Amino acid sequence: MSPGFPVVRPRRLRRTPALRRLVAETRLAPADLILPMFVKEGISAPHPIGSMPGVVQHTRDTLRKAAHEAAEAGVGGLILFGVPAEKDGTGSAADDPDGVVQRALRDLSADLGDATVLMADLCLDEYTDHGHCGILTGSGEVDNDATLQRYASIAVAQAEAGVAVVAPSGMMDGQVGTIRTALDEAGHSSVSIMAYSAKYASAFYGPFREAAECAPQFGDRSAYQQDPANADESLREVLLDLDEGADIVMVKPAGPYLDVVRRVRDTVDVPVAAYQVSGEYSMIEAAAANGWLDRDRTIMESLTGIRRAGADIVLTYWATEVARRLA
Ligand code: PBG
Repeated sequence: MSPGFPVVRPRRLRRTPALRRLVAETRLAPADLILPMFVKEGISAPHPIGSMPGVVQHTRDTLRKAAHEAAEAGVGGLILFGVPAEKDGTGSAADDPDGVVQRALRDLSADLGDATVLMADLCLDEYTDHGHCGILTGSGEVDNDATLQRYASIAVAQAEAGVAVVAPSGMMDGQVGTIRTALDEAGHSSVSIMAYSAKYASAFYGPFREAAECAPQFGDRSAYQQDPANADESLREVLLDLDEGADIVMVKPAGPYLDVVRRVRDTVDVPVAAYQVSGEYSMIEAAAANGWLDRDRTIMESLTGIRRAGADIVLTYWATEVARRLA
């Protein structure tokens, strides 16, 4: 072997923490993280979610406290999910001006002002007694166009309560355009839309169904959410949503769909979000609780992977904790 061999030594730049920090290609920052939060109507103490250790259904008051802590840690945004006291066939609580999310939005916009970005999930599954994301036809299918009218009304209710960004997650065709028109007609042209554009029919939502009390009472969501086998279809969904006026597009789940995140990032010129969903959270928490994984390192690696795949924004239940660690 010649004395100078190998001349090129990639290990040189890995030698010390300072060198590694200098050449890191991907960085996490608190401002890139969005914290999903659950608020339940009519409870007097926060209710732990068994399948998501560390996550709770908040009361109106504990939500305010946790939101304040997240904003103080520099978390970029909060996205609210409501669990109403009463559910019915059309999800009436979803657009009630006094519904659980509308009240919470008024609280938080008064408390937080511009300290972070206030968002709300826009869907019906948490509000319907059957647990589907829309209105049902007589034969039990989700009626796309009847559901759009409900989404339009929810968007306006959330906007009047102070939301900055609505996030339609029901995967109805035309939902972004319908919501954009409804917001504009109601004088809310400044409210943004973060579209759950590429949303898969995923088993990784399992723990969320407990958190939001929204498991479908029959069937599943495969007739409206995407087949995990498809990736080209995600680009089609994303481009449709952009045509209809989406400001931010999202891929969900994140970890098992990093190829989709990358393809979307390479295709569009708007911010791309990825949602590290409940099952991704619970898997790591469960393995860490058993001593099988190093919890903190696994969390940071999972988030770095999602950012490296191309997500500008990551929704994660660890947002506050990670933001504090990054500070
Ligand atoms: C629908 C919605 C779901 C999630 C976010 N919005 C559930 C579903 O589509 O079945 C899942 C989020 C998670 O698993 O963390 N409103």
